[in-house]
Amino acid sequence: MSNSEEHEGTRRDFLLYATGGTGAVVAGAAVWPLINQMNPSADVRALASIFVNVGDLEPGTQLTVKWLGKPVFIRRRTEDEIAEAAAVALTDLPDADARNANIGAADASDANRSLSEDGEWLVMMGVCTHLGCVPLGDAGDFGGWFCPCHGSHYDTAGRIRKGPAPENLPVPPAVFVDDATIKLG
Ligand code: FES
Repeated sequence: MSNSEEHEGTRRDFLLYATGGTGAVVAGAAVWPLINQMNPSADVRALASIFVNVGDLEPGTQLTVKWLGKPVFIRRRTEDEIAEAAAVALTDLPDADARNANIGAADASDANRSLSEDGEWLVMMGVCTHLGCVPLGDAGDFGGWFCPCHGSHYDTAGRIRKGPAPENLPVPPAVFVDDATIKLG
């Protein structure tokens, strides 16, 4: 990658993140009086959940959706991506915690990171755990995600492998409600 391309990428990601941040602030300001007024907490909880149709996602591709003002990556992994992540020794991981809201405290094995038993589905917050940039997919030294802001490399399970980010990309509350639909939140 040339210097100018790298600069372009960095700038584009920063703009994307900045735009997302602004949107979140505006939405927050608009939603707050509404929550205050409605008070039944079921309505408030509904705002925190979204349903994502993943039926058209091919192996080796991913969707980015916005949830609670932040990007969430939903990737349908290939068999190679799964095998690569599963083969990594836990002792090679800078962050040994699964960071998976769906299972609580657990080691960062590939099985503890993925949403489905066959390992095909990976859902994680698209926010670098260093200073909050949005990492790029299909990139970096470990074939997963790369954060161009300060050079953090994540593997095909979204675990930090190299660079300043201290933690794996967190897995948010997520569940398949039918074959093609994931509920976030
Ligand atoms: S914000 Fe990602 S490496 Fe610094």
